[in-house]
Amino acid sequence: MNNLIFPKDFIWGASAASFQIEGAWNEDGKSESIWDRFCRTPGNVDNFDNGDVACDYYHRYSEDAKIMSELSLMVQRMSISWPRIMPEGTGKANQKGLDFYRRAVDSMLENGVEPFLMLYHWDLPQCMQEKGGWLNRDMADYLTDMAELIFRTFPKEVPFWGTILEPQIHAYHGYWDGKHAPGLRDFSSALLAAHNLLRAHGSMVQAFRSSGSAGEIGITNYLPSHIPVSDRPEDVAAAKRWDGCWNRWFLDALHRGVYPEDMVEWYRGKGIVLPEILDGDMERISQPTDFFGLNYYYSYFIENGEDRWPLDVKSVKPADREYTAMGWPVCPDGFYDDLMRCWKDYGQKIIVTENGAAYSDTVSPDGCVHDPERIAFYRSHIKSMHKAITDGADIRGYLIWSSFDNFEWALGYAKRFGMTYVDYPTQRRIIKDSGRWYADVIRRNGLKEEENT
Ligand code: FCB
Repeated sequence: MNNLIFPKDFIWGASAASFQIEGAWNEDGKSESIWDRFCRTPGNVDNFDNGDVACDYYHRYSEDAKIMSELSLMVQRMSISWPRIMPEGTGKANQKGLDFYRRAVDSMLENGVEPFLMLYHWDLPQCMQEKGGWLNRDMADYLTDMAELIFRTFPKEVPFWGTILEPQIHAYHGYWDGKHAPGLRDFSSALLAAHNLLRAHGSMVQAFRSSGSAGEIGITNYLPSHIPVSDRPEDVAAAKRWDGCWNRWFLDALHRGVYPEDMVEWYRGKGIVLPEILDGDMERISQPTDFFGLNYYYSYFIENGEDRWPLDVKSVKPADREYTAMGWPVCPDGFYDDLMRCWKDYGQKIIVTENGAAYSDTVSPDGCVHDPERIAFYRSHIKSMHKAITDGADIRGYLIWSSFDNFEWALGYAKRFGMTYVDYPTQRRIIKDSGRWYADVIRRNGLKEEENT
């Protein structure tokens, strides 16, 4: 059997996000974000954890850039905290916030790591939530103003840009089931929030093109694959609805400038108020981009059921799968299907912007963190991706979630996704076995023969 070598110029890296690692929640002029507020309501986040300190990346960015280099990362994705650089949400920039991102970007570049800047990964300024958050159409323009400031700050040193990170997770967990900030629970609102997030994406792409900044720009979508549990027509239809809600609603809007007709009809039948679409909205949303960012963690196994109103579907957990510490089934086969589906149906160049797994890591008596399950997870998914490339999908890069253990939103610090272990009380970092393994994959641009079984 041969080594699995990736195309020349394939990009290997990792991802992280401002709120999940930075800490310094109220330093140097940063204002409160919706996540700062959300964490302060008991019951919202496990263990009543918050992002006040997180990985203290705000102060440790320089040491952390050295770790990125030890991991051999070619690219590190990070996000911009809007309340840090525009504390009032609009208008005046906070120079100290911008200076932080300048220092963080420079440290990466000095360490041979290229920055991938995500402009919005869910930390809306609380003062903008008070203006209605993503239910307010104007939010798209406010965020675009913030993005323009960042384009002006980094005219040439950032090769990859992201507009919005997973609009479906932000809209659905933030406005449908209330599991994420701002914690609202109304499906019609979730669709409106999603529409405005997509409009913000389109405007930021337009602003990027007119700014003349260097680099490529795209959006990142959460893209779980959906498998009906049986061939029964009702289960097949349920899986199609789930896919319509989580995937096609976004993919069709972005690539075809329409929301899928079957879902529009279904929602009408359920009395959902659909977002008002004004002239030019769908053209703006379907602006051409340079790549499509795909985040994959696992597949959903769907049957017809009563759960998840208004979808009326049920997600089941098959007994014959391994599970991560998140309770997510390990499904490298679904990753292949997802990549092929995305490529065949939408035909756009793909960068995998997140893939990874949480396991219950501990520091061993030898001072190391041995995480063989995570290595097995990466290996199986990298193999799926290689197969998809061999079968014709245009996949240009792979970023692991995450370079460091970090604040896992409503689940707090207990879930560890990093290739680097963070001992939160001391902020000591230890590169896990998986990080060293991944560094080898990057250096050899693929998997070696004995792993390719
Ligand atoms: C994704 C988020 C990311 C992280 C991973 C585990 O949906 O983008 O911030 O929490 O899940």
